[in-house]
Amino acid sequence: MLAFWLFLFIALHPCVATPWPYRYLRKACINSDCSAVRVAISNPPINLWNANTVVELNTLLKSLNDQNSTKVVVISSDIPEFYITNLDANIFTPKFEGLDVTDILTMYFDNLALLSSIPTIFIAEINGRAWGAGNEHLLHMDMRFAGPEAQFSAPEVELGVIHVGGLQLLTKLIGPGRAAEYLLSGKQVDSKEAARVGWVNSAFSTAAALREHVDSLAKRIALFPIEAIRATKEGIAEQAPSRQSIQNDMNRYNKLAALSTVEGNIAKFLALSKNQSREWELNIGNNLVQLYT
Ligand SMILES: *[C@@H]1O[C@H](CO)[C@@H](O)[C@H](O)[C@H]1NC(C)=O
Ligand SMILES: *[C@@H]1O[C@H](CO)[C@@H](O)[C@H](O)[C@H]1NC(C)=O
Repeated sequence: MLAFWLFLFIALHPCVATPWPYRYLRKACINSDCSAVRVAISNPPINLWNANTVVELNTLLKSLNDQNSTKVVVISSDIPEFYITNLDANIFTPKFEGLDVTDILTMYFDNLALLSSIPTIFIAEINGRAWGAGNEHLLHMDMRFAGPEAQFSAPEVELGVIHVGGLQLLTKLIGPGRAAEYLLSGKQVDSKEAARVGWVNSAFSTAAALREHVDSLAKRIALFPIEAIRATKEGIAEQAPSRQSIQNDMNRYNKLAALSTVEGNIAKFLALSKNQSREWELNIGNNLVQLYT
């Protein structure tokens, strides 16, 4: 009899009942009813952002859109030293085979918009490199907390393009002067500096302290009525950059991406970095300067 009840408990427990169909996303419940969950990005060796992760995140975000049981989602990484790095540059090369690049990019921008618009609260727990695409994702979440290994960079200018999905949000968050400094230089920013300028809410000196803070915040938010959580997110979203300014960035990006110099830069980047090797990606913002020296 005990075995039966145990079976029933396990089968009906919210963390076990739903099958988890993802390969690059790892889930864990933060509280007992699983209304606060952690999703760790797991695409070794560096959490490169490619078609697989774009597609899986899209499925996850859409599944969160029409439900009331998950209130808070913490997005972290289980890859040491990396949060989420850049969009895999291979998809921009003529040799790329696989999904249509336009489809991947459409889904990529759809994911960013979903993070800002769907009624779930997203907390970025960053304790590794967040480069390019990684930074664009965390900027679209509701709040950000960093650990000692966190570093941030928007290195797109170094390749001849712009930080299209994050430029407006970063400018709102840290102000135009600081945004200019970081966006124009591709500089790498550590967790203390990020906390000082407001890129993240706060920085913690150990991974354990970061985890403890994020977990307790997620649990606490998940106690409260979902309608109030949603209305607060909606209200804050009224401060978001306008659709027009985001569209303008998209137009600027498309013009730049069509230049032959950009194709050359991507080829050089792939060669110099030995196809985005781990060693090189640890310091992408600083290493990309080599394209010009
Ligand atoms: C979620 O709750 C709202 C009311 O707050 C309700 O209108 C909606 O149908 C619910 N959705 C689901 C999938 O249960
Ligand atoms: C470069 O790395 C990607 C994965 O990161 C892989 O799919 C691709 O085949 C590699 N290309 C070459 C030329 O090694």
